[in-house]
Amino acid sequence: MTAIAPTPPVRRQLHTPQPPASPFPYNPGSLLSVQDLTIDDVSHLLFRATVLENLDPLIRDRILLKRRVALLFYESSTRTRTSFELAAKGLGADTTLVSSLSSSIEKGETLKDTGLTLRALGAEAIILRHNSSGAPWLLEEVTRLPILNAGDGMHEHPTQALLDLRTILAHLRYGVETLTAETLNGVTVTIVGDILHSRVARSNMMLLPRLGARVVLCGPPQLLPDSAVNAGAGISVERDFETALRQSQVVMMLRIQAERLAGMQLDLAQYKDAYQLTGQRLAAQAPNAVVMHPGPIIRGLELTAGVADGAQSAILEQVRHGVAIRMAVVERALTKTGKEGHA
Ligand code: NCD
Repeated sequence: MTAIAPTPPVRRQLHTPQPPASPFPYNPGSLLSVQDLTIDDVSHLLFRATVLENLDPLIRDRILLKRRVALLFYESSTRTRTSFELAAKGLGADTTLVSSLSSSIEKGETLKDTGLTLRALGAEAIILRHNSSGAPWLLEEVTRLPILNAGDGMHEHPTQALLDLRTILAHLRYGVETLTAETLNGVTVTIVGDILHSRVARSNMMLLPRLGARVVLCGPPQLLPDSAVNAGAGISVERDFETALRQSQVVMMLRIQAERLAGMQLDLAQYKDAYQLTGQRLAAQAPNAVVMHPGPIIRGLELTAGVADGAQSAILEQVRHGVAIRMAVVERALTKTGKEGHA
């Protein structure tokens, strides 16, 4: 008689089904979200930004000589568009700008078809600003090119968070070269105003706490819903501007995104009363804080002209850091193969 080996008992394990691993980014050169970057990746990008900034322009422009970069902008932009363009050109790349006005987008062409057209024209990377959250993911999926998210709807603006980080480090952690989860320990960054509609706030909230910073969100309930208290570790809500200011080493002011208010009524006089950054408030509550703003600034609304032009303002420094950061990000887009082991 043949012995029948007993079948081993089936071990029933309790496990929570995991969502399938995200295939994004498909292209290792893409930057869709700050969450795509490890702390080491961020360190490496900051390191390259400094190297590239200090290189002789005549040597720098051989790095991406004649490579083709397309800028695809469905929303207005001054700083982001110009700095991406200067960054790509500074590395020697050829750039072309397609903006929703003055292109076939006006005639009804979809993002997919515009992306495929740019790829057929030889674009090796696309820098995309779009009014819909998630658009860069779609563009990456259809083109498989490196896509750089230059702001998608109310979602993310990863290069803004990186340039904001570079600005913060230049002021508060001068000389730090390698980032860790503790680099910004003891630093409180207060983000003030229209958090709800701000992709800048969202990317900063996702990046800064990972480096040890405390992020305080401050604004009225219409622009900062109560649910923000659950935004994540290291993030808290403080409705009183002066209380928030007193704790801050960095104050990041935001524009009210009138184009995204969708009928929401806001009493501007009341808003200014409670949340405008005035010289008096700053001197009384945060005389040493660094004042930041992603721009465009609306003088006399979220901050006074005196504060914008004052000694504590780092607003134009942020713009300058933007070019260096975007050089590093564009270089990464066109040189990363996924086998290097760092950014
Ligand atoms: C911001 C943007 O477009 O998200 N600006 C920028 O990119 N520097 C913020 C804004 O428009 O208020």
